Amino acid sequence: MNDIPERLAGKSCVITGSAHGIGKATAERFAREGARLVLSDVDTPALQELGQRLASSGSDVHTITGDVADPSDARRMIDRAKNSYGRLDVLVANAGVLPLTRITDATVEDWDQVMAVDGRGMFLTCKYAIEAMLSTHSGSIVCLSSISGLAGQDGQSTYGPAKFVASGLTMHLAVEWAKHGIRVNAVAPGTIKTERVDRLPHEPGGSEYLSEIEQRHPIGRLGSPEEVSAAISFLASDEASFITGAVLPVDGGYLAQ
Ligand SMILES: NC(=O)c1ccc[n+]([C@@H]2O[C@H](COP(=O)([O-])OP(=O)(O)OC[C@H]3O[C@@H](n4cnc5c(N)ncnc54)[C@H](O)[C@@H]3O)[C@@H](O)[C@H]2O)c1
Repeated sequence: MNDIPERLAGKSCVITGSAHGIGKATAERFAREGARLVLSDVDTPALQELGQRLASSGSDVHTITGDVADPSDARRMIDRAKNSYGRLDVLVANAGVLPLTRITDATVEDWDQVMAVDGRGMFLTCKYAIEAMLSTHSGSIVCLSSISGLAGQDGQSTYGPAKFVASGLTMHLAVEWAKHGIRVNAVAPGTIKTERVDRLPHEPGGSEYLSEIEQRHPIGRLGSPEEVSAAISFLASDEASFITGAVLPVDGGYLAQ
């Protein structure tokens, strides 16, 4: 893929939840665009495999096992970038869990788990990233929202509200920190064929959900992690220098209906 511009050359970037799915595709794309990486996840073996592969292709990459919902882990992810590369330019707040459940089946524990990872984890990593970016008065954050973070959907009673947190945090932080040179945007993917989505047919209601949601994407198919990572990379880069507070659908036209 030599046709990809080195838009992120030298930039110090933290990507959370980067062992699988969209985070992994983003790590691979950022590496090809010349970024210096800190990759974090709770899945140590998969994270190390990715880190070693990217390092052997010549990328600067550090891996750090940690839970974004834990304040000390979230801080360590950001500190690793500062300590290794002297600064933080980009955070991709991607780590998330994606439960499929109607409210009548959801438990308090389901709600707490998705709010802890997708909600508090995003809050914590954004908070520590902005504190780090203030030392250079520059930086770019890309949060992972979703079509479920901008519109209602069947079976998303816990996940959807957590993704509204992502959309809301993006807009509020964008306004709060624009004057300090820090941009905050989000992507709102439609349904993307990641490892998580591949597991859906094995869950109650998952096959029905998948076949129905695929038809609802006007483009007539699900998206790929690479199609999301291309949008993340653009928003993270200086090419998006006048874009902040945007929640960009990457959804095959889903939200345009
Ligand atoms: N796949 C989709 O259809 C889709 C659509 C819209 C938005 N998203 C969002 O994209 C992001 C990635 O989703 P995905 O489909 O690639 O999921 P995935 O399950 O394939 O990957 C998520 C990654 O996050 C990691 N993770 C989970 N909990 C963590 C924690 N507490 N701390 C650190 N890492 C943790 C997992 O180990 C995994 O590597 C999520 O925020 C999700 O909400 C996904």
